[in-house]
Amino acid sequence: MGIETGDDAGVYRLTDDIALVQTVDFFTPVVDDPYWFGAIAAANALSDIYAMGAKPLTAMNIAAFPSKKLSNEVLAKILKGGYDKAAEADVLIVGGHTIDDNEPKYGMAVTGIVSPRRVVTNSAALPGDRLVLTKPLGVGILTTAIKAGTVSSRAAARATRSMASLNRTAAESMVRVGVSACTDVTGFGLIGHLIQMLRASKVSAIIRFRDLPLLPTARELAGDGMTPGGAYHNLEFFGKDAEWDAKLSELDRLILADPQTSGGLLISVPDKKVGQLVALLKERKTLAASVIGVVTAPGSALLTVEP
Ligand code: CO
Ligand code: CO
Ligand code: CO
Repeated sequence: MGIETGDDAGVYRLTDDIALVQTVDFFTPVVDDPYWFGAIAAANALSDIYAMGAKPLTAMNIAAFPSKKLSNEVLAKILKGGYDKAAEADVLIVGGHTIDDNEPKYGMAVTGIVSPRRVVTNSAALPGDRLVLTKPLGVGILTTAIKAGTVSSRAAARATRSMASLNRTAAESMVRVGVSACTDVTGFGLIGHLIQMLRASKVSAIIRFRDLPLLPTARELAGDGMTPGGAYHNLEFFGKDAEWDAKLSELDRLILADPQTSGGLLISVPDKKVGQLVALLKERKTLAASVIGVVTAPGSALLTVEP
């Protein structure tokens, strides 16, 4: 499985008990510090394995580097950031490949395993489920502001920590509780990844804007014009599938569409298990454990956004 429903990773059954889970992700620097760029890229690549409820085992580095423009020390720091993050995830880096390129790029191809009976897809959300998000939104806005130099070092560090944080504990918690569906929130923003899940599951949902976890200062920075171009694209592409309460401003809508790098897991969990899941997420200190809405039977709008 994988391509048909646009799931986070490809899953290939090897035996009745074990399936291979594979994914690849790489991108250009989102922060200036090469070590943290490496750590974020690795956390982001591993995230698609976690979103499937799987356990990552091995990874291969993928790097592009302008070796005539930048010293090899910079590349070494990027790889060290990725190595340390993989080690934190108990993942072994077994190889990789680097090419010469004008702009640095880094990421990983990751392989994991899962029981074929316990794969968490993005296509099995059920009416009555609650929607839970495990990291705050706003990193697209924050990284835009970091590049523009309009953000405090404290706020920048917080965004960096959020992006570099593994979705491991969130994934382990959801597997323990048993959930209906999951995906990770990345480039299409919360709105895009939620709509993909709803479409694949043939259901609708209602979310409450006031219940969304947000990085401190994200709203203020968005108001100052730090919204990335990707948020406008996401809103244009996915916004028409949503019914917006008139109280929600253009800014609110853009926050919902803010592209995330290494965002949290978006989990659809049966109502009777949501308390257990949120308690476990809090105990394991995920960056957020917010109940943001509810899944409904297919309605006139795929997604309804309340203030
Ligand atoms: Co994904
Ligand atoms: Co991905
Ligand atoms: Co080679």
